[in-house]
Amino acid sequence: MHAGEIDWLAEQASCHKRIVEIGSWTGRSTRVLVDNTPGTVRAVDTWLGSPGDLDDVVAKNGRWWAFDQFRHNLDDAFEWNGGNLSVTCADSLKAAADFLLYQPPFDMIFIDACHAYPAVCEDIKAWSKLLAPEGLLCGHDFTPRWSGVMQAVKELVPDYCTMENWNAERTIWWKPSPTPALILAQEPPPGMEEGE
Ligand SMILES: C[S@@+](CC[C@H](N)C(=O)[O-])C[C@H]1O[C@@H](n2cnc3c(N)ncnc32)[C@H](O)[C@@H]1O
Repeated sequence: MHAGEIDWLAEQASCHKRIVEIGSWTGRSTRVLVDNTPGTVRAVDTWLGSPGDLDDVVAKNGRWWAFDQFRHNLDDAFEWNGGNLSVTCADSLKAAADFLLYQPPFDMIFIDACHAYPAVCEDIKAWSKLLAPEGLLCGHDFTPRWSGVMQAVKELVPDYCTMENWNAERTIWWKPSPTPALILAQEPPPGMEEGE
């Protein structure tokens, strides 16, 4: 993650209070989120790497290597140490399905898990259901190196925005929030009939 991306994440975290990150690895982006939000961060990861990406690191160093690094890097931030970070060690889609049953929506969802096209599609679909109205859906690695991310975002988030990208070092994408006016247009207040 490059400096411009870190600045963007920090700025967004500073104005969102219920953040979930899907794909944390050793906690580089998680650190930015927890340090800048006035609220809480939930990190969701298997800590196993993705097929063909980082799974070799786990195979070499052991099942809990990545999580141990994460815990070391974020020790002070865990809720049991008085911080604002909680973790879910689970598959992304399983976690999303569980959260739908008992978690209030999140106002910022940052997707940075498996970068293969089918996985990104599934993540966007599953986690979009947990996005609060006017919440921020965003993700990492919208770059030709990760063409699956680009393809999935283009197909499922047709109005996507990306950071200015002059050297493939600013690769965050996001879905623009609907404005309050648009939300009102879609959902008339209770009791108000259409055309009123
Ligand atoms: C690119 S790394 C995340 C990098 C991190 N956000 C950062 O900035 O340092 C991708 C992470 O997604 C996790 N991951 C991959 N597939 C997953 C899945 N199906 N469910 C949960 N986590 C997954 C991997 O274990 C890995 O930690």
